[in-house]
Amino acid sequence: MKFLKPSEYQSQTSEIFISLKKKVHSFLPLARVEHIGSSAIEGMVSKGDLDIFLGVDKEAHTSTLEIIKSFGFEIKQGTLRTDELCMLISASYPIEVAIQVVANGSVFENFLIFRDLLQSDVVLKNEYNQLKESSAGLTEDDYRLKKSAFIENILKVRSVNGKKESHIILRQLTLADKNKFLEANDDPSWMKEGFIFAHYWESIANQDFEKFVKLSPDFAKGLHIPPEHVPCTILAAFNEDGDLVGRTSIRHELNTHLLNIGGHVGYAVVPKHRRKGYATGILKESLNYIRKHFPQIKKVLVTCDASNIGSKKTIEANRGVLENSITYEGKEKLRYWIYLSS
Ligand SMILES: CC(C)(COP(=O)(O)OP(=O)(O)OC[C@H]1O[C@@H](n2cnc3c(N)ncnc32)[C@H](O)[C@@H]1OP(=O)(O)O)[C@@H](O)C(=O)NCCC(=O)NCCS
Repeated sequence: MKFLKPSEYQSQTSEIFISLKKKVHSFLPLARVEHIGSSAIEGMVSKGDLDIFLGVDKEAHTSTLEIIKSFGFEIKQGTLRTDELCMLISASYPIEVAIQVVANGSVFENFLIFRDLLQSDVVLKNEYNQLKESSAGLTEDDYRLKKSAFIENILKVRSVNGKKESHIILRQLTLADKNKFLEANDDPSWMKEGFIFAHYWESIANQDFEKFVKLSPDFAKGLHIPPEHVPCTILAAFNEDGDLVGRTSIRHELNTHLLNIGGHVGYAVVPKHRRKGYATGILKESLNYIRKHFPQIKKVLVTCDASNIGSKKTIEANRGVLENSITYEGKEKLRYWIYLSS
């Protein structure tokens, strides 16, 4: 086994990833195409290969395999194959390229959880680099076994600062999420709390799930939404078991209202899933999303009612720095900034 330094392979892997992503999207515009594996992580040593996560609805899993095969890929023998996972490889590139075709919401979302954990945890990244470097003398099979044990171990709930933190995957809703969404959205507690679980669900999507799924990516482009609203990415939050546990709304910029009280990020956790660390995980992943997609945003405003202890603790656990408190509609609101460079 030979491992390359990031500078020796990462520009090539990202170039091939970008072109393959474009190609996949020209056939499957709704597919989730994500760069995974070591080459997706800054500073990681690697064999120099490229791994791609391709998430599609379960019903489209088999037809997707045919599309990917038409690109010159073939199913990799000897790897786990289910109706929710299939690995395809191609020999048509100067490096090894593998596409993991995954059913949305399945346990194989773990590919993304592991990548996100590595991206956000320098200590873990160093441990993983050491594992690789110490495996230089191993056969490919022995290395895989060692690597799998490491990954499995970290995917169990990790302890951060002595507290349990729950892993969260943020993603756009797909048609397959209909029942989960309706169950979460119909919870009567939202009404009692005076909180809207899904923005624009009533006002723009007319409570039509298919329409909501179709229009949601447009909200991020500033389309369909009221003129006084800024473009906003709405993502559903799933736990490790694929339960829909909450949502986040990421506003791409601050207008006067948002600068005063709304903030960049708004989140909510489905009542039956509260007090399990999900809000903390949702805000953490929302910050990662901003880091990745909006690098120009260097500090993120998050606000809450002073009386909302859960939200206050969530912001503070994500290193929110209190700027001030203001009174709005008779309520005390706390305004925190979270600095992304630190
Ligand atoms: C506020 C909210 C997001 C918290 O979600 P959650 O998943 O229960 O929060 P977490 O489990 O991540 O908890 C974070 C911390 O707050 C504490 N906490 C959560 N709810 C609490 C409550 N009602 N009272 C006291 N503490 C609470 C947790 O114990 C935890 O503290 P710890 O880190 O010291 O252990 C959730 O109650 C909610 O969705 N409320 C309605 C919508 C809302 O208020 N959104 C925020 C808008 S600013």
